[in-house]
This record gives sequence, structure tokens and C-alpha cells, in this order.
Amino acid sequence: MFYSFELEKYLEDLLPPREELLLEMESVSLEETIPVVTPTVGHFLELMVEVSGARDILEIGTAIGYSTVYLARGARKTGGKVLTVDMNKGRVERASRYLERAGLGDLVEIHVENALKYLPKVTKSYDFIFVDAAKGEYPEYLDLISPLVSPGGVMVVDNVLFRGWVVPGAVYDLKYEKMVTAMRGFLDRLNHLPGFKVSVLPFGDGLAIARKCEV
Ligand SMILES: C[S@@+](CC[C@H](N)C(=O)[O-])C[C@H]1O[C@@H](n2cnc3c(N)ncnc32)[C@H](O)[C@@H]1O
Repeated sequence: MFYSFELEKYLEDLLPPREELLLEMESVSLEETIPVVTPTVGHFLELMVEVSGARDILEIGTAIGYSTVYLARGARKTGGKVLTVDMNKGRVERASRYLERAGLGDLVEIHVENALKYLPKVTKSYDFIFVDAAKGEYPEYLDLISPLVSPGGVMVVDNVLFRGWVVPGAVYDLKYEKMVTAMRGFLDRLNHLPGFKVSVLPFGDGLAIARKCEV
């Protein structure tokens, strides 16, 4: 087994206590099996926005807005704004209500559309882009998103270790073979993407961080 639940639990225990609203969102995500980032990843996203000083932030995959809360909290510190995109209208309506309750509504714009249709129309560049939508579409997102990252900007991609199964030698159900192979291919491409410097971090479900070199 390559994915350590004990490690994740330990890292989560090191975090500061989370507000009631975040705990409520975590319960909803569990009860309704809506996948959201782990608290360690959420905390890290907020920190990354802060340390990078990102002001223009784009998220692909809002769901009920759990990761968006963390991104927006980072944006509040940098004077930035978050644009988050999801094609599930019901989910983003709930995200909008949670963000209002968190007092972050004015920092977030929500766009409801398939990202594969929306991204080709985007002309603006972003300092920080968080990718957490359909895993099978990651290669397409990469093509569409990498040109949108500002020089010196950062792209963070969730689930790149896919429960640790991406690690060669891991044991998993064969029904996941296609996804595991695709994610390995994606990581290989990302790591060789010209003009980017990449690291993969083995917590949460695996996070890739890619910084676009400054010109
Ligand atoms: C893993 S959830 C996002 C979780 C969220 N980032 C969080 O941690 O709170 C993935 C979301 O991506 C959305 N999604 C999947 N494919 C998409 C696409 N092509 N365009 C827009 N949204 C998409 C789904 O509707 C779903 O709500």
C-alpha cells in the first residue's frame, strides 16, 4: 500500500481547528459522496495563494465550493479574486450559498459551463489555477490551461496519485486500469511541459504543482 491514511490523518491533526461551516461541508460531501479536497489540501491551497501573492485565481471544478472557500480565503489576503467553473448547476448553487455564509461571496465569481467549452474562450491569464474536475479530461485541461498561466504563475492539479495507484507496483482493481494509465501519462506530460517547473506532493490524493517560468 502506497497511500498512507495514517499520514493523512496525522497531517490533518496538525492543522488548526476548522470552522463549523467547513466541517458542515465535509459532512455533506461524505453523506452525498461529492468528492472534495482533503482538509490538508484545502489548507495548502490557501497557503499557496498567500505565498505566491496570486490575485487572479481560476478554479476548474467547484462542486459545493469547499476548495473555493480556501482559495477565496487566500485571495482575501492577497487582494485577489477567484473565478470558479463547474458544469453542475445544482452544486454551484449550493457553493454560492456556502460562500455567502463564509462571508466570501464578493471575492468569488461562479461560472456554470463545461470547462472544455469555456476554457478555449478565455483570453485573460491567471496567477493561480487549481484543476479538480473530471480526471479523464486532465490532458485536455492541460492543453487549454497551460497557456493561461501568467509568467511566474502556478497551476495546481489534484488527485494525480489517484489513491496511490499511480505508483508502479501498487495493487488496484483492474476496472481502474484505464484511469491509472491515463493519470501516469498525464503526470509524465506535465513533468516534461516546456517552460514549467513541476513537483508532485504525496498528500491528499496527490497534488502536482507547476510553476510557469518567468520570461
Ligand atoms: C472533485 S469535484 C470538485 C471538488 C472541489 N474542487 C472541492 O474540492 O471542493 C469535481 C467537479 O468537477 C465538475 N466537472 C467535471 N467535469 C467538468 C467539466 N468538463 N467542466 C466543468 N465542470 C466539470 C463536476 O461537476 C464536479 O462538481
